[in-house]
Amino acid sequence: MAREHEEQPMHPHAPRRQMTRRQFLSYTLGAAGAFMAGGVIIPMIRFAIDPLLKPKAVVPFVKVAELSQISSQPVSYSFQTLQIDGWIEKNVEQTAWIAKSSAGELFALSPVCKHLGCTIDWNSNPQHPNEFFCPCHAARYTPEGKNLAIAPAPLDEYEVKIENGFVYLGGIRPNTIAT
Ligand code: FES
Repeated sequence: MAREHEEQPMHPHAPRRQMTRRQFLSYTLGAAGAFMAGGVIIPMIRFAIDPLLKPKAVVPFVKVAELSQISSQPVSYSFQTLQIDGWIEKNVEQTAWIAKSSAGELFALSPVCKHLGCTIDWNSNPQHPNEFFCPCHAARYTPEGKNLAIAPAPLDEYEVKIENGFVYLGGIRPNTIAT
């Protein structure tokens, strides 16, 4: 014998049970809460990852030196570039060693040693004249930046452009002139 409150199997054409007031309120409040949370969380996520979605900025060329001043002897030139890191924009002081190769090709080397990042200098070690020398662990480079000792790779170089008798430098790239 079936108990009084035991549920009977639902007939396929039986009317669906109606939602109670309590269920309606909890669904409505849940949906409203989710909508408001989305309104707060989605802008926060977008704010956090926005710089990653932007295309990589092209480094603009900067006028650095007069072409007539450049010889086969590397000379250090300082200049400023605008660096954009996420939301931070700042002018950064840069240095380049600019010279002409034996074939007359103009190049500009980064002063950052490829061993551990110290700053190299030109012709500063009397035992190894006419070379770039790093004072930290004695890395040495040719005038075109080819690594001779300690450093695992040639010095990086700046992109170079010549316009109206002036040398313009752009972004940094791996060395293309050292042989
Ligand atoms: S950082 Fe230049 S030799 Fe080590």
